[in-house]
Order: sequence, then C-alpha cells, then structure tokens
Amino acid sequence: MTETNDTVECNDSKINDSSANDEDIVNPWDVRSSSAAGVDYDKLIKRFGSSKLDADLLERFQKVTGKPVHHLLKRGIFFSHRDLNVILDRHEKRQPFFLYTGRGPSSESMHLGHLIPFILTKWLQETFDVPLIIQLTDDEKFLWKDLSIEEANRLAYENAKDIIACGFDESKTFIFSDIDYIGQSSDFYKVICRIQKSVTFNQARGIFGFSDTDCIGKISFPAIQAATSFSASFPFIFNKRSDIPCLIPCAIDQDPYFRMTRDVAPRLNYQKPALIHSTFIPSLQGAQTKMSGSDPNSSIYLTDTAKQIKTKINKYAFSGGGDSVEEHKLKGGNCEIDVSYQYLKYFLEDDKRLSEIYRTYTSGELLTGHLKKELIDLVQVIVENHQKKRKEVSDDVVKRFMTPRKLNFSF
Ligand code: TYM
Ligand code: TRP
Repeated sequence: MTETNDTVECNDSKINDSSANDEDIVNPWDVRSSSAAGVDYDKLIKRFGSSKLDADLLERFQKVTGKPVHHLLKRGIFFSHRDLNVILDRHEKRQPFFLYTGRGPSSESMHLGHLIPFILTKWLQETFDVPLIIQLTDDEKFLWKDLSIEEANRLAYENAKDIIACGFDESKTFIFSDIDYIGQSSDFYKVICRIQKSVTFNQARGIFGFSDTDCIGKISFPAIQAATSFSASFPFIFNKRSDIPCLIPCAIDQDPYFRMTRDVAPRLNYQKPALIHSTFIPSLQGAQTKMSGSDPNSSIYLTDTAKQIKTKINKYAFSGGGDSVEEHKLKGGNCEIDVSYQYLKYFLEDDKRLSEIYRTYTSGELLTGHLKKELIDLVQVIVENHQKKRKEVSDDVVKRFMTPRKLNFSF
C-alpha cells in the first residue's frame, strides 16, 4: 500500500495531550468536547494525520461501485479515512481485500452507537463482496474493566448475537473471541508476537498514554487488535497469503490502534490496513460526550422497550429548540446541537424527509415535541426489528459464525 504521512507521531496522539487546553479528547477510552456542537472533526483529522472523506472521493466511490453511496457516507457521518483510494484501486483491478471491524464486549447490551460501524460494514460487504472478520476483544475488556475473564468471554458470545442480527452473510463472515481464537490458532499468535517484538514500550506509551502503574496486559494488548488487520492471521480464509490488505470501518476513537498497526506493517512485510472513520453518536444529554455504555441515561440500548425509548428521548434528549413555544416559533431551533435531529441524521434514511425536518425545525415551524415524536417512532421500529432478528439467532448459528473455516472465496 502507499506510504502516507502517518508514521507514529508519539506526541501528537498522546492520550492526555488535550487536557491542558480546550482541545477535544478522543481516545479508545474517552471522548469529550467542551463545545455543544461536539468534537471538531476537521481539527481531529489534522491532529491524527488522516484524510478527509471528501466529495471527490465519494464520487469516485460511487463510480467504482456503480451504486449510490450509503447515507452514512453521503451525510459525512463517516468523515475521515486512510488509504481508502488504495482499496478502491484494488476493487477496480479486481484485486482482493477484506473487511475488519470489532467490538469490545463490556456489557450485555449494545447501544445505538455500536450499531453504526456494523451497519456500514454490512453495506460494504454487500457492495464489495469480500470476506469480513469481526474481532470480539473479550481479553481487552477483562484487562480494562471490572469483569472476570469468564464473564468477558460470555459477553463476547452474547454480543455476537447482536452483531449477527445486523444481517451478515454467514458464508462470508468470521467472528471470533480473542480468548478462544488465540488458543486455536498458532498463526494468529505468531503475528501477535511479531508485532509485540516490533513496538517498544516507549512507542506504546506515546500512542496510548500508558503509565507505570498500568498492568503489562494492557501494554501488550494493542498487538492483538493490530494482528487482526493482517491476512496471515487467518490462513484458512486466505490460503496462507500474507499480502491481502483490509479496510477497517470504526469510529475514530479506535484510530490509535491502527496508527500503530500501519507503522509496524511495512517492517513485518505486511500490508497497511486502510480505514474509514465515523463520528460519534452523541449522548442523549448532548454532543459534549459520546453515547457510552457506562452511563445508562446517556444511551439507548438495543434491549430497551418501546416505553423506555419514549421516556428517555422525551426526558433526556438535549433540545436545540426555543425555551417556550412562542420563542421557538419566533427564533427557530438549532439542529446542530439538537440531539434528536442529530440521531435522525444517523438513522432516518429518507433524504427528503430529513431536509424537510431540518428546514421546518430551523424556521420554528416544527416544534421540539414533534421532532422528538418522529425520532421516537423511528428508533422504536429499529430497536424492535433488531430484537426480533436477535431472537432468531440460535446458539448454533453463533457457533457456525465463530468456527475457523474457509469462507466462500478462493485465494
Ligand atoms: P467498542 O465495543 O467500544 O465499540 C465498537 C465499535 O463502535 C464504535 N462506537 C461508536 N460509534 C459511533 N457512536 C458512538 N457513540 C460509538 N461508541 C462506540 C467504536 O468505535 C467501534 O468501532 N477495541 C474495540 C473492539 C475492536 C475493534 C476492532 C473495533 C477490535 N478490533 C477493529 C473496530 C475495528 C472496542 O472495544 O470497541
Ligand atoms: N478496542 C475497541 C474498543 O475497546 C474494540 C475493537 C477491537 C475494535 N478491534 C476493533 C473497534 C476494530 C473497531 C475496529 O472499543
């Protein structure tokens, strides 16, 4: 893959680099902004050294795939990338690549934010017809959270059901738990060891902000998330080829892992992973923080009932509307900071309806209560459908997705 300007810049990506001033904090463990409009994503692109997913690249995407781009791309929700053009070149030349994404199973129930990378990944799998690998980092959650290793491993299998319910093609998808797969595959472990030997403690500290009191498990974990980017880790899928690159859809909090990965790849004679990064679904309280599993009132869970969804949105969703009906009608609402409008941007597929809502809310014609009602109806349907599909995923189906095997591709 082409060289880009993303060699590991230790100081640039330091975990605590932003606490001294009012720069946004974005790392795998924390997302915070002092602005009601949320993280300044253009600034983040500069700080991280990634590239903007701009109109020209989207146009090329459309040309190469011959279909309209997904609304998550078109609306700038996936806003940044690394080497996406390299992946499009390969697709044009009919050269193979694969998709890789993941989930850290820290709780029984996933929230709406966790769905975003999986929704786009499903569309990418259908669009490109390539293998997909999904890593469940139960080891990571054991190391970082107050969970026993058995519990983290159990949650991986629970979360796998939610992921499968998104509609992935079984013949083209391999899902694995780190804890179980490392024990099954010496090839995966060999790749992990090669990475561990190529990154110094100093580099890992620079990228992730580890301190002297962090356990050594945390310090070596990034090698495991990195190793999944390389086709050599899955010889049964790629026929032992180590030269097949991947494209990783994820929210931008995961980028530090893959800056490290892209830095070591050439030294190990592996391909650098390409990435597309999404913004964060804000918490119900506003875009200063992301929707996060650790605060139940900040999130809408895939296990919430219709009634809970209605109550949470009505009670907590931060409003950009006027304080009174009179004021709202006079001055109009502010969609940029209105959480309900922001959620509609992620989930309402109908472009016409969305721009109608934008126009009428901004002018003050559409009241906050009605905007919220629109969102409640939509989210109730999405969550209800998800719950139905999840129920249909049996333990047997999970086992099949999670068995190392050849997928429906020849390499
Ligand atoms: P985890 O479980 O924290 O998050 C899973 C995925 O969801 C994204 N995400 C969000 N997206 C939009 N809005 C939000 N509010 C929001 N919160 C989380 C995350 O960026 C991520 O893409 N260590 C990872 C697991 C992992 C992984 C990967 C993820 C392993 N390999 C490769 C992506 C790609 C984790 O614990 O993710
Ligand atoms: N480290 C991620 C987290 O804790 C989980 C993860 C593992 C991941 N592999 C991934 C996320 C690949 C995105 C893409 O959030």
